[in-house]
Amino acid sequence: MQLLLTLGALSASASALAFHPFKLSPTTPTPTLNAVKRDSWGGAVSLGPTKSTIVKAVTTIIPGAAPSTQNGELFLWPGMSNGTGDLVQTTLESWPDNSWCGASKGQWCIRCSLFGSFGQLDGSASAVSGDMKVEIVYELLADNDTWRQTATDVDTKKQLSTFEHKSGPYMTGYGTGTECDDGCTGTIAAQTYENTVITLAGADKSFGNTISSSQGAMYEGLSVSSDGKTWTIAKINVPSMT
Ligand SMILES: *[C@@H]1O[C@H](CO)[C@@H](O)[C@H](O)[C@H]1NC(C)=O
Ligand SMILES: *[C@@H]1O[C@H](CO)[C@@H](O)[C@H](O)[C@H]1NC(C)=O
Repeated sequence: MQLLLTLGALSASASALAFHPFKLSPTTPTPTLNAVKRDSWGGAVSLGPTKSTIVKAVTTIIPGAAPSTQNGELFLWPGMSNGTGDLVQTTLESWPDNSWCGASKGQWCIRCSLFGSFGQLDGSASAVSGDMKVEIVYELLADNDTWRQTATDVDTKKQLSTFEHKSGPYMTGYGTGTECDDGCTGTIAAQTYENTVITLAGADKSFGNTISSSQGAMYEGLSVSSDGKTWTIAKINVPSMT
């Protein structure tokens, strides 16, 4: 058993992370009349930029129960970007009314989303229970341009959402986010991200040095393959916000 590592408390602002390519938040599925309040952030672990580029990133999130009532918007995601281009971000979402994806109380909605100069584009959405293991795959296809996102229920193999877009072969950063907007009701359970594997186009044996965590998030089992291309984080634990 390896020691849990934490890089200590960074500022509450996610912008204090060493590399924070994630700036946009999902837009409301229906217009909202809420005044925009400042976003706040729960725990996060992120890596980047790599000296190479990312060609694939896989993780399995167990989200824990969503709040049974929601005051604002709460988002859980692994995100991938290069800081100036598109943001690839399959997101678990908690809205005051989550019936748009068929979720019942305490469930999340999930959809594969893409943020860029065009705004937000989304795949179809599904409901996710707190104990579901959801595999989220981002992969650069053979055209060296298109990124495919796929979210799958690991136990049933059911596809929950998918989306493809030509976002280019220059992705350099990957990280988790716990994003609280418009005075959200925060997470009521911890999140676990298991077996996160980031594959690079070329060797970058110092990519691991770019890892940072915030707001009590912890990771264990950071390792790299002998060719320097495949980085694994065995487990990430993001504590509950309440
Ligand atoms: C993908 O594009 C990058 C940037 O142009 C290039 O360095 C790389 O060799 C390409 N990879 C493949 C498999 O074509
Ligand atoms: C990010 O990716 C886009 C799309 O491939 C590219 O145009 C841009 O130059 C990249 N930015 C960086 C900083 O690599």
